[in-house]
Amino acid sequence: MEKKFARTLVTTALPYANGPVHIGHLAGVYVPADIYVRYLRLKGEEVLLIGGSDEHGVPVTIRAKKEGCTPQDVVDRYHSLIKQSFADFGISFDVYSRTTSETHHQLASDFFRKLYDEGKFVEMESEQFYDEEAKQFLSDRNIVGECPRCHADGAYGDQCEKCGSTLSPDELINPKNALTGNRLVKRPTSHWYLPLNDYQQWLEKWILEGHKEWRSNVYGQCKSWLDAGLRPRAVTRDLEWGIPVPVEGAEGKVLYVWFDAPIGYISNTKELLPNDWEKWWKDESTRLIHFIGKDNIVFHCIVFPTMLKAEGSYILPDNVPSNEFLNLEGDKISTSRNWAVWLHEYLKDFPGKQDVLRYVLTANAPETKDNDFTWKDFQARNNSELVAIYGNFVNRALQLTKKYFNGIVPEVGDLTDYDRETLKEFAGVKEEVEKLLNNFKFRDAQKEAMNLARIGNKYLADTEPWKLAKTDMARVSTILNMALQLVANLAIAFEPFLPFSSKKLREMLNLSNFDWANLGRTDLLSVGHVLGEPQLLFEKIEDSEIDAQMARLERIKKENEVNSFTPEPVSPTVAFDDFTKIDIRVGKVLECEKVPKADKLLKFKIDDGMGGRTIVSGIAKYYKPEDLVGKEVCFIANFEPRKLKGVESQGMILSAENADGSLVVIGPQGAVKPGCKVG
Ligand code: MF3
Ligand code: ZN
Repeated sequence: MEKKFARTLVTTALPYANGPVHIGHLAGVYVPADIYVRYLRLKGEEVLLIGGSDEHGVPVTIRAKKEGCTPQDVVDRYHSLIKQSFADFGISFDVYSRTTSETHHQLASDFFRKLYDEGKFVEMESEQFYDEEAKQFLSDRNIVGECPRCHADGAYGDQCEKCGSTLSPDELINPKNALTGNRLVKRPTSHWYLPLNDYQQWLEKWILEGHKEWRSNVYGQCKSWLDAGLRPRAVTRDLEWGIPVPVEGAEGKVLYVWFDAPIGYISNTKELLPNDWEKWWKDESTRLIHFIGKDNIVFHCIVFPTMLKAEGSYILPDNVPSNEFLNLEGDKISTSRNWAVWLHEYLKDFPGKQDVLRYVLTANAPETKDNDFTWKDFQARNNSELVAIYGNFVNRALQLTKKYFNGIVPEVGDLTDYDRETLKEFAGVKEEVEKLLNNFKFRDAQKEAMNLARIGNKYLADTEPWKLAKTDMARVSTILNMALQLVANLAIAFEPFLPFSSKKLREMLNLSNFDWANLGRTDLLSVGHVLGEPQLLFEKIEDSEIDAQMARLERIKKENEVNSFTPEPVSPTVAFDDFTKIDIRVGKVLECEKVPKADKLLKFKIDDGMGGRTIVSGIAKYYKPEDLVGKEVCFIANFEPRKLKGVESQGMILSAENADGSLVVIGPQGAVKPGCKVG
């Protein structure tokens, strides 16, 4: 039973303003939301796309402390950067505001106060970690200690990054203030809780019975939360950064970031339409849709709806199309490990190629499971789909029309059976794309749109108008008219997905805007219509560009390995006498060459001050033979000789194993004569 709605309000998760945005954000939330609203706008529906930055919360304060600036400085910087990235990628927000705005502070504060006044919260006291020197309570992220599971140092109060366990601060051994290292004590503090348990039955009915149509990943997560039984959730925190709790005696307390942020959707609508926002939030004929990532499901399906229900005057979401995660080259995207493709950096490397990324991210959208972004796939989809199918078809149709008809839309004559077959194939596309978009299946919808281009490409390849030009211009005219109508259809079908290319295509066709209803028509371009200048819609991406991206990721991976390096534990103690049994000497490399048929080994001729010796060493991966000639090295002189690949090695050259596993040869720091003892 489809309810008939008058308008659609689309919200996108507010990204934290503590870092730039990356391809995971775009793929998970913003591109699908943008496709959806562009589609509805093309259909002439009343729709708003609401966005903004999430500027409160602990991560912002941690970043500020690290950088020695204020939280406001941090969010100012990233809010501008994020806003610009979204604009650059054509995410067509009606408003993109921020949770530090006046409007938001007021609205969130009033929202809390109303629930407070109506007794919708429960106040409870609990023991929390307190830093007596800094005179503050600490959030989970600000507490570090030894992990109770893997015993690594530096585990956070919410998670150990070494072994991945989810933790609570109480479990940490020797909890300390992460920033100052101060020891912590327990102190009672009082907070307000939203009693989710009181709403359990209502939520079960609303979601489990009322919204069976939600994506199975969303429905499934809700069900497991509900099955586990809901508990009260604290909606305030002991923190300085945030919206002050509007209650007397609550100094030093702010609203929990997950309480204020979703209210940001409302505030931002209000900022856009100060006099007209309420119909978007309080009128039952408005359909509310939240686009989010999977880590946000519980907040948007359980907590925020409970807040709205408790408040009483707001509508509830009709759907919450949440995506799973996008990985990058097989690894989880991570801001702190710099494992991401940042949108502003992508545009520096691929200027003007917004649509290519939009296309690839939609083609690989993590709609039902986590998915992987790889640069090879990015290149392949560009070169063999956008360039070879869509771009090629458009270019052929326009160039041929320019060549044979001076860029003027030619007449249609009698259609052949093949023409009619082609038209039939393409007639179903509109309905199919619509059905998919209405069900938030963006990946399949884009595939369908691409099918239009495939049909067109095949049509020209099969009819070969360039061969008929000498004998049958009437037929060429019909073929090109058909092809041009298909091109015009492509511009419409791709407008939600690839808006930059559609705009370019419209200019080439010399057409002003057209709407979705026209999709499927074969008279979009009338005979005699003068086309614009053909240009290339997409360009090939070369191997060298992909290699550069791969090299960047390689470099980051190396850096991360080095940064996360922890030295091996020290070996058991040895007596001095045992140590002196090993005779270490300084030597000078006279000659060095590769050992045949052994890719790891180098053979050295060493001046050991005693007539010279041969040593074989497994460092060929890290040094070229000529690198070490003339250098001084340390070696073990009384090692039992042994044969390596047929060469007798009379000792062992000392080297250190670096964090990334590479080997670095050890030598004296000043002038030392070959043969001198080391000890
Ligand atoms: N900042 C949150 C995140 O990135 C999302 C907040 S969505 C909102 O996970 F609803 F709270 F705004
Ligand atoms: Zn651990």
